Amino acid sequence: MKSKNVYKQEFDVTPADRKQLYQHNAFLLFFTGLSGSGKSTIANALERKLFENHIHTFSLDGDNIRRGINSDLGFTEEDRKENIRRIGHISKLFVDAGVVVLASFIAPFEEDRNFIKTTLGKENYTEIYVNTSVEECEKRDVKGLYKRARSGEIKNFTGISSPYEVPQNHDVVVDTVNMAIEESVDYIYEKIQNKLY
Ligand code: ADX
Repeated sequence: MKSKNVYKQEFDVTPADRKQLYQHNAFLLFFTGLSGSGKSTIANALERKLFENHIHTFSLDGDNIRRGINSDLGFTEEDRKENIRRIGHISKLFVDAGVVVLASFIAPFEEDRNFIKTTLGKENYTEIYVNTSVEECEKRDVKGLYKRARSGEIKNFTGISSPYEVPQNHDVVVDTVNMAIEESVDYIYEKIQNKLY
């Protein structure tokens, strides 16, 4: 750690105060899976459902975050690690602010997902594995990136030329081939009900 001589500053407004104000708990829903697996689509629909049920939410998404605060990062192992490290801390800030965070990132390495879990505390972290095979993602190829990765134009592409470690400790898994979006959303919503209040 480069910062020395820094001390934790305490503030009066506590997590319990925020819970009282917002009338629900705050935690992170972390979606992991391949590019094009359906993470953001499911997170988006789930956020809408939570929002309509008066839950304060915010979505963090790989493609968006990489256009802003993480625009200095690429897709080497080291950069992906730093990407996820920052996301862990950013998510924690939002959770500390009383918000239910929906974060959608490939996060291909178990070690980095575990870092987020430790940063948030396991009671504030729910890992959702969007289990869609490379074959299916490549067939969909919504952004045309798989084609470009196959041709060698895009290097270090997850599932093609860069690894994805299948989550060993996920809390929820959804199968986007056999489940409709609404089905996945309802399934996750049910699973997190007991965490909300
Ligand atoms: S992560 O591996 O560091 O967690 P992140 O979720 O932030 O990745 O970003 C993934 C998105 O970046 C993909 O959905 C895709 O649109 C885009 N992308 C561009 N290049 C690559 C690449 N080499 N590998 C994976 N995704 C890439």
